[in-house]
Amino acid sequence: MRAAGCVFAEEEAGMILDAAARASGPDGSGGAGGASGVLVEGMVERRRAGEPLEHVVGWAAFGGLRIAVGPGVFVPRRRTEFLLEQALRVGRDAAVVVDLCCGAGPLATALAVRLPRAELHAADIDPAQTAYARRNLALFADRASVHEGDLYDALPDALRGRVDLLVANAPYVPRDALATLPGEARDHEPVRSLDGGADGLAVQRRVAAGAPDWLAPGGHLLVETSERQAPLTREVFAAVGLDARVVECEEREACVVVARRAGRAGWSAG
Ligand SMILES: C[S@@+](CC[C@H](N)C(=O)[O-])C[C@H]1O[C@@H](n2cnc3c(N)ncnc32)[C@H](O)[C@@H]1O
Repeated sequence: MRAAGCVFAEEEAGMILDAAARASGPDGSGGAGGASGVLVEGMVERRRAGEPLEHVVGWAAFGGLRIAVGPGVFVPRRRTEFLLEQALRVGRDAAVVVDLCCGAGPLATALAVRLPRAELHAADIDPAQTAYARRNLALFADRASVHEGDLYDALPDALRGRVDLLVANAPYVPRDALATLPGEARDHEPVRSLDGGADGLAVQRRVAAGAPDWLAPGGHLLVETSERQAPLTREVFAAVGLDARVVECEEREACVVVARRAGRAGWSAG
């Protein structure tokens, strides 16, 4: 694996061995999947061929949790934990939480863990992503639902005007920049999970357009963006009447726009 360019080859090999051992079952026979040696070989080969480690081992670390992922699914990024932290700062009392463009549901799942009384809704347009989001949110089925469809169209109408906390890690890579992404993203993640249109803001504009209608008075909307795009993203949310500001974490190269619908007293913009 080192020869194939894996920088953390030993660490990755350990994760692959662990994943194969889990898949093999307690007696190591591999059950229906075959012997664990064969499993390990197959996993190493996939990794050497450039598949993301997370797809190979079947999980990604996010917010202290293991989020199930697999081929064809967007791999949750550690930088998105900054969005999670900011969401918890402004939305700690949120009763209704929505994760739009949820992917495998890392944000919704981490929010479900940390906001034990909140009603949660996660939505994505891609059935491959929602299948994983359902799996990740299965423990919270009594108060978390996963919906499929185009942005707000996926949500139950009854949520209009009631969403206290709306998070949306929507695609924001400018189309021209897609070709410059690392192969793991370019070749193994669906283009729809990355492609933000000509300037990277196409999906965010649509998220912004619908937000005033779905947010509760005083409700917050948070989106991830890049440092370069942040001023434009902020403008997009300000243009629909939200009070918007940019927060950054240099260490994780993470940038988030926090926007708030005016209303209810007692809620602060941050
Ligand atoms: C950058 S990924 C983020 C996924 C997840 N929120 C995360 O942080 O791991 C963007 C997601 O947006 C979804 N998406 C793209 N266009 C969409 C649309 N019009 N409506 C709903 N989801 C959309 C993609 O399928 C993908 O899962």
